[in-house]
Amino acid sequence: MELGLTGKVALVAASSKGLGRACAEALAREGTKVVISGRRPEELARAAQEIRQVMSVHGADVHTVTGDVTHPEDVQRLVRAAVARFGHLDILVTNGGGPSPGKFADLSESDWQMGLDTTLWPVLRLVRAAIPYLVAAKERGGGRIINIVSTSVKQPIPGLFLSNALRPAVIGLAKSLSLELAPDGILVNNVCPGSFDTDRIQQLYTSRAAGTALTPEQVAAEAAKAIPLGRLGDPRELGHLVAFLASDKATYLTGQTISVDGGIVNGLFG
Ligand SMILES: NC(=O)c1ccc[n+]([C@@H]2O[C@H](COP(=O)([O-])OP(=O)(O)OC[C@H]3O[C@@H](n4cnc5c(N)ncnc54)[C@H](OP(=O)(O)O)[C@@H]3O)[C@@H](O)[C@H]2O)c1
Repeated sequence: MELGLTGKVALVAASSKGLGRACAEALAREGTKVVISGRRPEELARAAQEIRQVMSVHGADVHTVTGDVTHPEDVQRLVRAAVARFGHLDILVTNGGGPSPGKFADLSESDWQMGLDTTLWPVLRLVRAAIPYLVAAKERGGGRIINIVSTSVKQPIPGLFLSNALRPAVIGLAKSLSLELAPDGILVNNVCPGSFDTDRIQQLYTSRAAGTALTPEQVAAEAAKAIPLGRLGDPRELGHLVAFLASDKATYLTGQTISVDGGIVNGLFG
């Protein structure tokens, strides 16, 4: 399927590794000019080099911007740098590092603040900074906002209290935005990863194993067994969906929250 992404410009936040990186790569493979970001310049440079190697389609390009999505001034700079480099912006993929694990009893006031700083504020600020450019994308087929969230918005994940409690605010934000931005031709959707094989999930398994008789590998094996498809996801499997949502084949789809989870959310509307 030709996705019509050639020459489009995408900003993928927090994308030197893991899910963000996979989304950037999927878009670049389809000919999109992609801006990737992260806090560590050396990781970013490596990711850009690897993405360049898979960009076979004419029109694709990759540009790196170092910054922290929890810092408001970095978010502004990131969006401005994307437009300065490629002239316009069509697609915004919001992403970040994710909140710390913990049960309610473990969490201090500053943990809650940090939870908001890592879940809600980056999305809100990225969207606010990008809207003027995404409005202008109407003449090129319409802007897209795609938020990488978590299945915690549909089914609480034990031990991830901050994610369970705070990420649903992103869904409320996105649904309201989808209504307000529809007249401007901007489509807003959320993707909810289940368990994907990234550094972040390995860190969570290590933290879950701490204080138990299990190794992180055993925790990972148990987690995989609980997934109906019997394995963790490959980040590229999320990237494919994000590229589709960003494409001109997804033109009547907005305000939706889609799980990519190997079937682990057990609900009729999971
Ligand atoms: N993996 C999963 O199964 C899964 C499931 C549900 C939800 N999620 C969520 O999806 C998001 C991405 O997870 P992942 O598994 O892809 O993580 P990852 O493999 O650890 O990658 C995180 C990426 O984000 C960047 N990053 C982290 N904090 C940042 C910040 N404050 N500002 C800018 N860039 C930042 C990292 O680069 P630097 O460290 O250099 O900044 C890296 O490029 C997280 O919010 C996570 O909670 C993941």
